[in-house]
Amino acid sequence: MPLDIVVGTQWGDEGKGRFVDLLAAEADYVARFNGGDNAGHTVHVGPQTFKLQLIPSGIVQPHTIGVIGNGVVINPTILLTEIQTLIDSGIQISPKRLHLSFAAHLITPAHLALDRAQEAARGNAKIGTTLRGIGPAYTSKVSRQGLRLVDMLNMERFKLAVEDHVKNINRQLTKLYQTEPLDAPRVSDDLLQNAIQIAPYISDVSILLTKALRQGCRVLAEGAQGTLLDLDHGTYPFVTSSTPTAAGALIGLGLGLGYEERVIGVTKAFQTRVGSGPFPTELEGDLAQRLRGTGEHPWDEFGTITGRPRRVGWLDLVLLRYAIRINGVTELALTKLDILSGFEKILICTGYRNNEHEITNLPYGPSDLSGFEPIYEELPGWQEDIRTARHWENLPPNARAYILRIEELIGIQVRLVSVGPEREQVVEII
Ligand code: IMP
Repeated sequence: MPLDIVVGTQWGDEGKGRFVDLLAAEADYVARFNGGDNAGHTVHVGPQTFKLQLIPSGIVQPHTIGVIGNGVVINPTILLTEIQTLIDSGIQISPKRLHLSFAAHLITPAHLALDRAQEAARGNAKIGTTLRGIGPAYTSKVSRQGLRLVDMLNMERFKLAVEDHVKNINRQLTKLYQTEPLDAPRVSDDLLQNAIQIAPYISDVSILLTKALRQGCRVLAEGAQGTLLDLDHGTYPFVTSSTPTAAGALIGLGLGLGYEERVIGVTKAFQTRVGSGPFPTELEGDLAQRLRGTGEHPWDEFGTITGRPRRVGWLDLVLLRYAIRINGVTELALTKLDILSGFEKILICTGYRNNEHEITNLPYGPSDLSGFEPIYEELPGWQEDIRTARHWENLPPNARAYILRIEELIGIQVRLVSVGPEREQVVEII
């Protein structure tokens, strides 16, 4: 059954967009199943760079049909801007080519205001959210007070629902956080305008995708963020509010079990994180600077959406094994191997030391990693520029040894390796 699911195995920013773009060449449908515009997926095609936040990155391949599932939270202003930007860059977007689930929830200006107020109130304990209203929108959803795309189809009811929603959040903004309330009629007027433009795209994507799968079409489910930011399985509470792991694809698109074929885990060749929370292999100083870059290149480690410098460190195989288990990853796609060129030695974390004990699995998940010291294995680096490598044999022996050692320690195969930002800068390992 041809459902392929792409997930991030780290804290997001693994470079999923470029592999989704590659895999989408073989797909009929590309579908986003979680998160919102907190994601930033970049695809480089020749001189063009596409930065996508909501619409699946696979849409850049002209033959695909794009889907946004019920698991996603949608800021309508961002969505409409993204549609326009894509159209301006020559990508064809229309209600025939992009389908939005009627059950996806909306992010409103009230959610944005609440995200800002809550982060400010957390002080030193702040999560470092992207301030895109993600947490508050999912909170509205689980507390059964959210606004869904389907509500936009009945203008009169929608207007009243929005005004109620804003008044409700205004009470929290003013009473709990002592901040300014929003103008409810104004918010509802703006959302009504958005509704007119968005309505033609709304449908039941569960019906669309199930029918497609039964007919043998290939569906590529595209996760945003990463396993360690998963609400249930990540480094709670320093997580996002959705389910970026593989099972989230089924829930977030309205699919039953049994269609899935491959679960492709995307992993950076080192580790990065934005926002707060545990990071056992984090580096500081010169090594960190080298891995992060200066910010002058688009691939340097600065947030696509926020511009924040990312925290960086060596690859952590304890966390990677955890992600493989949680997702049922069947194969790995390794990104940014080229960034490791020129290092004399490269470290990988193979286990942790806790007091006198050595462990290779986490007893209580990844939330509390204080007291866990990484155990490193040192591998020789390579000095060659690998950006022109396209086949396994083109990689220097030490780069191959690095990949083989990772495979040995995690028990699954690395199938794809990226050696530069361009679409063709990939080594496919057969
Ligand atoms: P939120 O999703 O904006 O609520 O942020 C919660 C945490 O997830 C913060 O640490 C963010 O930096 C992180 N986060 C959210 N989206 C992404 C992403 O696409 N890439 C990397 N980190 C993310």
